[in-house]
Amino acid sequence: MEILIAGCGYVGKKLGEDLVGRGHQVLGLRRDPAAATASPFPIRRGDLAVPGGLDALTHAPRTIVYCAAAESWHDEAYRLAYVEGPRRLWQRCLELGGPPRRFLFVSSTGVHHQDDGSWIDERSPTRPESFSGRRLLEGEAVVRAFDCETVILRCGGIYGPGRRNGIDTFLRGEARLDGGAQYGNRIHRDDVAGALRHLIELATPDDLYLGVDHDPASRDDVWRWLAVETGRPLPTRHDGDAPARRHGGSKRCRNDRLVASGYDFLYPSFREGFRALLAGDGR
Ligand SMILES: NC(=O)c1ccc[n+]([C@@H]2O[C@H](COP(=O)([O-])OP(=O)(O)OC[C@H]3O[C@@H](n4cnc5c(N)ncnc54)[C@H](OP(=O)(O)O)[C@@H]3O)[C@@H](O)[C@H]2O)c1
Repeated sequence: MEILIAGCGYVGKKLGEDLVGRGHQVLGLRRDPAAATASPFPIRRGDLAVPGGLDALTHAPRTIVYCAAAESWHDEAYRLAYVEGPRRLWQRCLELGGPPRRFLFVSSTGVHHQDDGSWIDERSPTRPESFSGRRLLEGEAVVRAFDCETVILRCGGIYGPGRRNGIDTFLRGEARLDGGAQYGNRIHRDDVAGALRHLIELATPDDLYLGVDHDPASRDDVWRWLAVETGRPLPTRHDGDAPARRHGGSKRCRNDRLVASGYDFLYPSFREGFRALLAGDGR
């Protein structure tokens, strides 16, 4: 088998569809394949995190894209998804006759602790305080130790069809301005899939990329843009205590390395992506 998508959900399914469209042979893996919508490639039942969970995997893949997600916001769930899962999958590949040529691991910008709105890139330090960031970083270290080419893509908040990232909060009139201090890093699902496909096909990828669009806009900028775009009133300012901090901190991630590698974004900023969603694209 050519490409295994381990954890074939929101991103993995779209990636598999893109890869099949380009002539690749793909197998998806998840615990509940029946929950997937109609697929042009097989999705097999398998559990990355339990002993014997990968017995259904009978051929060693040439390329692995690991994009399983933790099933709950708990340390143990994160450990199973991002640390135990890659380890068990690697072990299974060795049992099946050999390591893959390339192992891509979808991580998160949440491994970066910066919370002061500063610009960061792949060389910036990572000292996550949250258990989630720490487990993701631990998973990255597990993957880096594999004896094959490894590529880590640290994604910002993934939005797209069915995941409207604040649009509905705004449309319900529940958005509040907070002074513009909280930056967010986003990427459309189709660009996560596109970037992964690009990194699969690239001859000599780097070992680490930030997977974010060009514009780490502040939450206030997003509300302002939505107000103009939809002709609705600008949200009022948050009254009361300080607004809730962004999950993942306030930082501005650069995508220069991904762009320099030749990836061309379908949705360069939230504006193009949100416009498509407002137009009913995949609502
Ligand atoms: N969502 C975001 O904003 C965001 C931001 C940064 C990074 N990421 C990362 O991006 C990646 C893809 O996210 P996503 O939005 O596509 O997640 P998703 O829709 O939840 O898909 C994850 C898939 O993993 C499968 N899975 C979970 N545990 C498994 C296990 N033990 N064995 C086999 N399959 C398992 C799930 O299917 P079953 O339940 O059927 O097993 C699900 O289909 C994840 O690594 C996530 O951490 C996401």
